[in-house]
Amino acid sequence: MNLDLVIINGTLITASDTFRADIGIVGEKIAVIGQNLRGKRTIDAEGKYVLPGAVDPHVHLEMPQGEYTSSDDFKSGTIAAACGGTTTIIDFVEPEESETLLNALSARRAQADGKAVIDYALHMTIPNAEKRTLEQIPAVIEAGISTFKLYTIYDGFALEDDAMLRVMQTLQLNGGMPIVHAENRHVVKYLQEKFINEGKTSPRFHPKSRPPIVEAEAINRVLALAEIAESPVYIVHVSTALGAKAIRRARGRGQIAFGETCPQYLLLTEAEYSRQNFEGAKYICSPPLRSDDNLPALWDALKKGDLQSVGTDHCPFFFDGQKNSIRSDFRKIPGGLPGIESRLSLLYTFGVGQGKLSLNQWIDLCCTKPAKIFGLYPQKGSLFPGSDADIVIFDPEKEITLSQELLHENVDYTPYEGFSLRGYPVTTIRRGEILSQGGEFLEGKDGGKFLARNASLSF
Ligand code: URP
Ligand code: ZN
Ligand code: ZN
Repeated sequence: MNLDLVIINGTLITASDTFRADIGIVGEKIAVIGQNLRGKRTIDAEGKYVLPGAVDPHVHLEMPQGEYTSSDDFKSGTIAAACGGTTTIIDFVEPEESETLLNALSARRAQADGKAVIDYALHMTIPNAEKRTLEQIPAVIEAGISTFKLYTIYDGFALEDDAMLRVMQTLQLNGGMPIVHAENRHVVKYLQEKFINEGKTSPRFHPKSRPPIVEAEAINRVLALAEIAESPVYIVHVSTALGAKAIRRARGRGQIAFGETCPQYLLLTEAEYSRQNFEGAKYICSPPLRSDDNLPALWDALKKGDLQSVGTDHCPFFFDGQKNSIRSDFRKIPGGLPGIESRLSLLYTFGVGQGKLSLNQWIDLCCTKPAKIFGLYPQKGSLFPGSDADIVIFDPEKEITLSQELLHENVDYTPYEGFSLRGYPVTTIRRGEILSQGGEFLEGKDGGKFLARNASLSF
């Protein structure tokens, strides 16, 4: 067999196995896994891990939020992702009131195509349960979108229980899956107003207006609605021990339910909101960072399989001029954290490196399960012959101190500034093409493709 590229002498890590082998690539695909392979070009991965390209199931690139737009566009955001070992992202279509869902999808694809350097898929946000909206769902599935974002909170998007049930039932009939942001919006509104009226306006009151029970109640309710609709469901950005427990119990009852957490909920705490000089605003995201007793519970939920996926919820806003512009009301600070570039290494250093996850669990959570849950497997998230040659060469000994200057995200801070990492990607390959090397993006590489997904998800 004439191989275009071979990766030799590496240790392959998949969701189930760890073994020494060479990989041979022809064109955009993995052609063979074997020994003593020879090809036109060779990468020697001696002493390195060879991984499936990571799949980030939850990012928000150039997403409007009030008067701001998240600061990474499809170019800068996907370059950052590639440098961090992520070769597939799933972003969102957020339709305007006046648009059809398909028009919103076309507009979103027009923003991404030609800019994204890695492959991308999209979730469709369903902003209401009106008949005219629900009628469009089969066409959206036909167009390659099989997962639908439902919000329990945020003006313009929040669905009350009856509306959510109606959407879930429509999705169930058509083979789509809801993915849900779960927080009790009525409680949040009440607590926010109470704090603001009491003059408690600083970022410290953001987590206090969204206590853990606000998330847990909504997750339990959404799980109940999914059970009634006989629909699978995926809960995004689970931040609390109580939330993870709700998902564990639902799964224990036989429900098809999945939970995602994010590095910020595994590694950061609500103490960040008390930083001086208004820097607590850098950490405003919803759900908020939590008290430190939640962190070990979330790691444990990943280890035990109670949560199945780690996404980033990457949604960057500049501190200077955006997050710090209105200081008199924590509700007006744009919500979201950057993190698209550092997920794989953070999970390795603090998960595998600290004995909280096995090597194979790390790959399962960051690559394989997101691909499986979202209908991208085995094209993505695996190292099989026939899969896309999306491959990361990862140096388990490489030491890095994270800093905003080192990262490629288009934002003026990282919430992980100063974190010491041991283990970092050194080469990222997308469909047989080397995109980044030694932490730097190789300019001129583009051609990320839209991934149409079908409705039969391989759970
Ligand atoms: O605060 C956050 N997480 N912003 C991004 C949008 C969302 O809710 O996921
Ligand atoms: Zn959310
Ligand atoms: Zn999000």
